Amino acid sequence: MIDAFDLTGRSAIVTGASRGLGLGMARALAGAGARVVLNARDAASLDQAAEIIRAEGGTVDVVACDLASEAEQLVDDAATLCGGMDILVHAAALRDRRATAQLGAEDFSRLLDLNLTASYRLARAALPHLTRASAGRLIFVSSIAARIARAGDPGYVACKGGLSALTRALAVEFGTTGLTVNAIAPGLFATEANAALVADPAMRSFVEMRVPLKRWGDPTELATAVLFLAAPRSSYVNGITLTVDGGQSAQM
Ligand SMILES: NC(=O)c1ccc[n+]([C@@H]2O[C@H](COP(=O)([O-])OP(=O)(O)OC[C@H]3O[C@@H](n4cnc5c(N)ncnc54)[C@H](OP(=O)(O)O)[C@@H]3O)[C@@H](O)[C@H]2O)c1
Repeated sequence: MIDAFDLTGRSAIVTGASRGLGLGMARALAGAGARVVLNARDAASLDQAAEIIRAEGGTVDVVACDLASEAEQLVDDAATLCGGMDILVHAAALRDRRATAQLGAEDFSRLLDLNLTASYRLARAALPHLTRASAGRLIFVSSIAARIARAGDPGYVACKGGLSALTRALAVEFGTTGLTVNAIAPGLFATEANAALVADPAMRSFVEMRVPLKRWGDPTELATAVLFLAAPRSSYVNGITLTVDGGQSAQM
């Protein structure tokens, strides 16, 4: 039987790959046979992530850099390491859960700079490689916050809304090249970044009331979503934001 998710011979960059959802997706891609370049700022935690993947039999390299200033350099380094690039999964993001009264315009710009402008710069630098690849795949990690807003979180909501819009814009612009551009919109996932919320009893009640599955998602539960979008056989899936939220955004 043909394995529809086999990525043997393909190379991928995953940003935000030192922990949480980025690491979960990098493990999935490497497990499917891709050679994966992991990116985050902290070199030590990237090395730990690489060791986890190597122990599982995967092939990985690491490039530690700050996407706010070195998005293009990351693409150059990764393409040099792998001799090209087939898949880019962009999961790195900055979180600042402050309400409008507290989130000044400069804080808002800082969020936009990393979460949206750096995403554009990264994609723009990667596009020549991805369009040259056969079945290139550009996958942004957006959020259900792109469509539904939590009160008091204007910066993140605006960035993720922009990222889903950028997904559509690049999908329609580059469709003729064979590249597909899609996004994943996670709901509530129990990553390190959410540790305090996971431990918060009020949040537990919220999750039980608002998420039909009545639990947080586990980072491993994004694996099939990223493999589906990365697979060469998903060649007619373009411009979508794939929601993975246990049904949260489907519920009134
Ligand atoms: N967890 C959720 O419930 C959830 C829900 C919806 C959407 N998302 C989205 O999913 C993605 C991952 O979320 P997460 O919870 O796994 O986040 P996380 O645990 O905070 O991880 C963020 C990752 O991005 C890296 N990073 C941060 N700033 C960077 C920069 N300037 N340059 C390069 N790398 C940088 C971090 O490593 P360094 O600090 O070493 O750089 C880390 O590897 C984000 O886009 C987030 O918005 C998450």
